[in-house]
Amino acid sequence: EWSLDRILDDITEDIRRTTDGKPVLLLISGGVDSTVVAGLLLRALDPELVHLMYIDTGLMRLNETDEVVRTLESLGATHIHVVDARDRFLNPLEGVSDPEEKRRIIGDAFIEIQQHEVTARGIPEHAFLAQGTLYTDLIESGKGVGKHAAVIKSHHNVGSPLVIEKREAGLVIEPLASLYKDEVRAIGTKIGISDAVVHRHPFPGPGLAIRIPGQITREKIAILQQADDIYIRELKARGLYDEIWQAFAVLLPVRSVGVAGDAREYGYVLALRAIISRDGMTADVYPMPWDHLLEISARITNQVRQVGRVVYDVSSKPPATIEWE
Ligand code: XMP
Repeated sequence: EWSLDRILDDITEDIRRTTDGKPVLLLISGGVDSTVVAGLLLRALDPELVHLMYIDTGLMRLNETDEVVRTLESLGATHIHVVDARDRFLNPLEGVSDPEEKRRIIGDAFIEIQQHEVTARGIPEHAFLAQGTLYTDLIESGKGVGKHAAVIKSHHNVGSPLVIEKREAGLVIEPLASLYKDEVRAIGTKIGISDAVVHRHPFPGPGLAIRIPGQITREKIAILQQADDIYIRELKARGLYDEIWQAFAVLLPVRSVGVAGDAREYGYVLALRAIISRDGMTADVYPMPWDHLLEISARITNQVRQVGRVVYDVSSKPPATIEWE
């Protein structure tokens, strides 16, 4: 407890000394790390100096934008820049089914939109850029190729022109860079961030795009958001959420037959995933209690008309990965 206070004081002091009265920009992903950085900045500085930018990709979980805004407001934020970029992500993704192509399009859109919006919203050129980099991110950077290179958190944007430019100008600040995840969570709780945010499961930068194998449509996104929201709310209500490292639903590009009254109906197949892990590098299937699984599945098919069948993914990593693509 004493050392946590000490860490908090040191970080606060460091933020004040480093930024020295200049404004600070932080890109918000909705996850634990960027939210804790937001809380630390708002605690250390005059909120007038703190610009928080959140890009709505259209590929986030249900009601994500509203929840992010509410959380930031509760931390005292005054400059919350919500960028509605749904069309700018979804239009170029139309007709694309290759997973790496999806990631590339999304990564490029993030970079372009950040660059554009920072100027368009009048964020001062001499503003600092705060990043939610953790100690472990620094160690991991540069490792891996292909899919695993993309795993390095997309909001770090290590190679984006904005980050490069700010770094060259000495205008990057990384308040969490000496901390591990559990310390970040403890600090988050200490500065009043809700358990729902502090203990949130990880969420990939490309969002629901990689949980809709094959082509993405707005209709499929809406179906997946509904189903995933029911799944996660049920896990929480049943006290299972905190036992699981990551849980989510995947909308498969398969229609399967079912019965609705006297008629045959073709509905989507939804896969539920829940895994236990330490760091995401390996994962075990969460042994979901059978009765819970059956009830949750029934909830989903009752409430989301377009889902006709639910399956549970029982593959560990390796050989499977956590995400389906
Ligand atoms: P996999 O599927 O590789 O996932 O076993 C390991 C962890 O990384 C997340 N993940 C990503 N995160 N961009 C991200 O920011 C990505 O492209 C990406 N792909 C996977 C995944 O959710 C899991 O926590």
